[in-house]
Amino acid sequence: MAGKSAGDPRCRVQAAGLSTRTAAPILGGMKPTAVDEFLQLLRFPSISTSPEHRGAVAECGRWLTAKLAGMGLDAELHPTEGHPIVVARNRHQPGRRTVLIYGHYDVQPVDPVELWESPPFEPRITGDIVFARGATDNKGQIFAHVCGVEETLQRAGDLPVNLIFLIEGEEEVGSSNLEPFLQKHREALRCDVIAVSDTGMVAPGVPTLTYGLRGVAALEVRVHGPSTDLHSGIFGGAVANPLTALSRLVAGLHDDAGRVLIPGFYDAVTPLAPWEREAWGRLPIGDADMQQLTGVPALFGEAGYTSLERVWGRPTAEVNGIGGGFQGKGTKTVIGREGFAKLTFRLVPEQKPEAILEAARADLLRRAPAGVRVEVELGHYGEPYLTDPHSADGQAAQRALEKTFGRKTALIREGGSIPIINTFSRVLGADTLLLGLALPDCRAHAPNENFPLANFEAGIRLNQALLEELARGKA
Ligand code: BES
Ligand code: ZN
Repeated sequence: MAGKSAGDPRCRVQAAGLSTRTAAPILGGMKPTAVDEFLQLLRFPSISTSPEHRGAVAECGRWLTAKLAGMGLDAELHPTEGHPIVVARNRHQPGRRTVLIYGHYDVQPVDPVELWESPPFEPRITGDIVFARGATDNKGQIFAHVCGVEETLQRAGDLPVNLIFLIEGEEEVGSSNLEPFLQKHREALRCDVIAVSDTGMVAPGVPTLTYGLRGVAALEVRVHGPSTDLHSGIFGGAVANPLTALSRLVAGLHDDAGRVLIPGFYDAVTPLAPWEREAWGRLPIGDADMQQLTGVPALFGEAGYTSLERVWGRPTAEVNGIGGGFQGKGTKTVIGREGFAKLTFRLVPEQKPEAILEAARADLLRRAPAGVRVEVELGHYGEPYLTDPHSADGQAAQRALEKTFGRKTALIREGGSIPIINTFSRVLGADTLLLGLALPDCRAHAPNENFPLANFEAGIRLNQALLEELARGKA
């Protein structure tokens, strides 16, 4: 999927009259400063999970706040117990609809850094593609909305809606300070609808409206054995090895066909609707793309489902990290005193994260092998999201997407999670439109994350079309 050809829909912007031969024409209607400023935003190493980057995250928040204030919006940076939240608004007028645009300026860690072809926080443009951590997830996508609003304000002096930008610095670590913030500022953040560009497009140039996201729930399991590391010759055979015990626990999460074995795991799962399976089957992506994109020797997953169905509509248990014992080069004859595994579960409607975490904990403790002590620490979680893509605002979003990309919108769910989306509907009572701009090979969370300038430019136009379309709805 990485290569491009003239027939590739990724060149759609070119077909719309923009050459890709030199940097300047790619910009199309974009102000050159939009790209410069996008690159500036990418230079902040705003890694939310890393305590050493706390200052850089805050600096990034300050930069964004200054940018939004410079556009004439009323912008404020709100400190939290974690990273600060940026809120900006135009002057709200009665009788107009209120649209909240949400995004995040924090990014994932960069390791393994040696696999990057250029430094992750020194953005590089090759062809029309920007390579940097956060280029897609989520700086490029949210900054396209910022630039869209800036252009409209410069051109028309006003926006067609009452607008609120809400851009947080903790999405990649579970948004734990955002819910209390929403509760506290519920009145100020009241809105008719929410728009988010933090998801994907099914293929280059194919406008995509996401109407469902999986939820996520995290835990860490630790297996404790001897009080100290032991010589595996002197003691091996007389004590349980914590890493063997941990491996049994992890291996017991699934059967050989990939189905999760935790009792009750599937109890609340809403089966896929026949119309979804049929519609997803007609999308221009499938198992072959999944295999190519991932580079696996063979696809694997729950029997009876396609790759898209497995990722978008079925729950999973994943091992995200595992450790313990000797990790250095060569060998060391040791029985490590403990081991750990970091697990996350992706959840679909109507699974409840708390119930799944409890079921997983009970299962791990019940299966604790003899001779070790198993400890389970529950982590962050977020609910799955599902909405109606055919609602009035859903249709407005589809029109805006079609106007921007010149073809029919694909309606999909996604496997990733944005836990706060469900909280938005609960606390603010508003539905969220997910208009993704990420391409399948954007490498979010991975080395060489990238975002085409064509998508950045499309995002700017999408913002303008969307605000116009949403303004037409009932206030
Ligand atoms: N933008 C992603 C979520 C996403 C990715 C949605 C692809 C749909 C398609 C977001 O920034 C993200 O990575 N979320 C985390 C949430 C977690 C840390 C709580 C995720 O999905 O792992
Ligand atoms: Zn992410």
